[in-house]
Amino acid sequence: MPSFSKVLTERNSIRQFQKSHIIPQYEIDEMIQLAQTAPSAWNLQHWRVIVVQDPAHKKNLLPIANNQQQVEDASVVFIILGDLEADKNTEFVYLPLVQSGDLPEQTYKHLLDDIKEEYENRKHKSRDSAFLNASLFAMQLMLAAKSKGYDTVPMRGFQAEELVAELRIPERFVPVMIIAAGIASKQAHATTRLPLDRIVIRESF
Ligand SMILES: Cc1cc2nc3c(=O)[nH]c(=O)nc-3n(C[C@H](O)[C@H](O)[C@H](O)COP(=O)(O)O)c2cc1C
Repeated sequence: MPSFSKVLTERNSIRQFQKSHIIPQYEIDEMIQLAQTAPSAWNLQHWRVIVVQDPAHKKNLLPIANNQQQVEDASVVFIILGDLEADKNTEFVYLPLVQSGDLPEQTYKHLLDDIKEEYENRKHKSRDSAFLNASLFAMQLMLAAKSKGYDTVPMRGFQAEELVAELRIPERFVPVMIIAAGIASKQAHATTRLPLDRIVIRESF
């Protein structure tokens, strides 16, 4: 298992993958389980992931992803969705904790009230929440893949409406990101990062 800092520094966006390489199902499941440890507001876990491995299905994604060849060549394509109705997850998230005694009944009721208020009265925020929280999951998925020796590229260059139609994505979910994953056949091109003094604001502007 590589060190965590090695996983971070060696993750690069890969756009050319070894075609026909297959990632075993158990490893895909392990990656998703690791990504699942991501934090989320109220722990509502505003994400779903469509796993596309069938070569014919990956080929169908090609025009939708603006002909970015990685969606066809990668071993697996993850479609990360954000949940616009994550308030519907409360029972799954909280009831086991209430039943085990880890979450007092009264606190649970307060949580439900707060979540209901947010989702009923501030509906416009649900899209932001879906994107924000699903992106944390997406980042963890890329790092989990890297920790297992796989490369990835996150992609937003796709036609969202066409993706929704192709994969019959219900209205409840919004496509956030596509992540292609597999074994690199060509290393990533060099990238830069802004220097710390450009991105860090100490105390306030
Ligand atoms: C939200 C998002 C959307 C991106 N969309 C694409 C894309 O459509 N196609 C692509 O080749 N790379 C895409 N990238 C990858 C970026 O170009 C890449 O992360 C950036 O250049 C830094 O390089 P690195 O990932 O190798 O560190 C995207 C990255 C992010 C985070």
